[in-house]
Amino acid sequence: MQYNESEFLIETVVPEDELIISRTNLQGIITYANETFCEISGYTEAELIGKSHSLVRHPDMPSVVFKELWLTIKEEKQWSGIVKNLRKDKGFYWVHAIISGVYKDGVLVEYKSLRTPITFEQKLEHQRLYDKMRKENGEKTRTVTYE
Ligand SMILES: Cc1cc2nc3c(=O)[nH]c(=O)nc-3n(C[C@H](O)[C@H](O)[C@H](O)COP(=O)(O)O)c2cc1C
Repeated sequence: MQYNESEFLIETVVPEDELIISRTNLQGIITYANETFCEISGYTEAELIGKSHSLVRHPDMPSVVFKELWLTIKEEKQWSGIVKNLRKDKGFYWVHAIISGVYKDGVLVEYKSLRTPITFEQKLEHQRLYDKMRKENGEKTRTVTYE
């Protein structure tokens, strides 16, 4: 996918009192999205349901973060971490996410995610950390292009 880099510079700040909630099936396909998730990601509910959660994956996120996430939740443990997400308009938003299983009669049936805002310092720290991780893993890093 080819983007104009300037589109990536617009941040949507998650309000303090808002909770972004989504659920996926065991394959990571979105089965539920609350209103805040729709608003912050810029998608309608209809655009999110049935899509892979990687729809909001930001290219700044190192792939090892998601490998670790999936290893953790497949073991039926809770994962939490700081995630930079991509909006439909190519802007971004940062969250602290807690992902865990949804159980029915003791059987894991889905995954759920609750996301809350983080501080400016946490964003800065994680942007630097994720840039470093992508570089170390030979993943694509940001370059500025002018059109
Ligand atoms: C409940 C749940 C919520 C998730 N939320 C996000 C999210 O907000 N952003 C994101 O990039 N990936 C999220 N993921 C991870 C994605 O499924 C996916 O692994 C990730 O976007 C990386 O994409 P890839 O596995 O296609 O490389 C979530 C997974 C689950 C199970």
